[in-house]
Amino acid sequence: MRVGGTVRAWAPGRVNLIGDHTDHTGGLVLPIAIDLGTTITGERAGRTVQLTSASEPGAAVMPVDIGDPMTVEPRWGRYVAGVVSEVHPSTGFTGTVETTLPVGAGLSSSAALEVAFALALGFEGDPLDLAQVCQRAEQRASGVPCGIMDQLASAAGVQDHALRIDCTTLAVDPVPIPDDLEVVVVDSGERRALATSAYADRAEACQAAQAEVGPLRSATPHDLAQIGDTTVRRRARHVVTENERVDALAEALRTGDRRAVHDLMVDSHSSLRADFEVSTPRLDALVASLTALDGVVGARLTGAGFGGCVVALVERDAPIDVGAPQWRVRASRGAHLEGAP
Ligand code: GLA
Repeated sequence: MRVGGTVRAWAPGRVNLIGDHTDHTGGLVLPIAIDLGTTITGERAGRTVQLTSASEPGAAVMPVDIGDPMTVEPRWGRYVAGVVSEVHPSTGFTGTVETTLPVGAGLSSSAALEVAFALALGFEGDPLDLAQVCQRAEQRASGVPCGIMDQLASAAGVQDHALRIDCTTLAVDPVPIPDDLEVVVVDSGERRALATSAYADRAEACQAAQAEVGPLRSATPHDLAQIGDTTVRRRARHVVTENERVDALAEALRTGDRRAVHDLMVDSHSSLRADFEVSTPRLDALVASLTALDGVVGARLTGAGFGGCVVALVERDAPIDVGAPQWRVRASRGAHLEGAP
């Protein structure tokens, strides 16, 4: 909504309950949009974009016809530039960014920035259009061939629901989070930017597997046995088994099957550690500490890995302390302009 020329847009971060490193091969994911997010406030005018951030140094300043986002400094401004270069706004924007998300902790602070800013700039389209524009913005800003999960969770969030997303059809099915469970996110404190991580390497291995056996989305264990390279075979095995776990967890949430929730989250973490090799000793230790606590139903690393956060599903109000920063998050509605329905 525009009141007196001022625009205010909000977009949530996300935490993924299960289904990591599946989106870039059209697989299944089960994220929630969370009640931590990014607000952009300002005015649409002129031919320049100028944003300052309460949590990042420097100002992001660029013309509305910015070419390559990767030339922009400070670095956080590249996500802003990515959005500008994809949205092609007719006017500029001057405003501020505030966030309740920990930046760079694996809760999709960059996706929240992109999605909020696209709305602030006046992007019009449905949540899927918004997510696709912002996924391209992220890819151009970071050089990382990321999938669509983060931006689509931020754009299409549903209060008190996880989102079962089919990254081939892009269908989004809300799955209720049981009232007696809470989502707790624990920060490992380890920070590794996606671009400097092995994300692209893992995505390439998945492409190599698909070149041999076709889409991993429909591959069978028998197909995987035909992959010659053992590392590529393990990467593909993670993806194929993780896709199965997404639907199994959605079903376990629907039926309240605690044992299945526990086993699926722990198996997902093991697969990310052993087959996809994106865990760290710190993440493994946090998952072990969490799953040993009374009241924790299941825990696993969430997002790209290489540091970042662990997600746990816990009995409501269960006291959780593993000596690391944590947030109790709720599944939130998706991005919106303030005052919009
Ligand atoms: C990052 C990417 C997502 C997804 C996850 C891993 O968050 O941006 O597209 O691939 O890693 O599941």
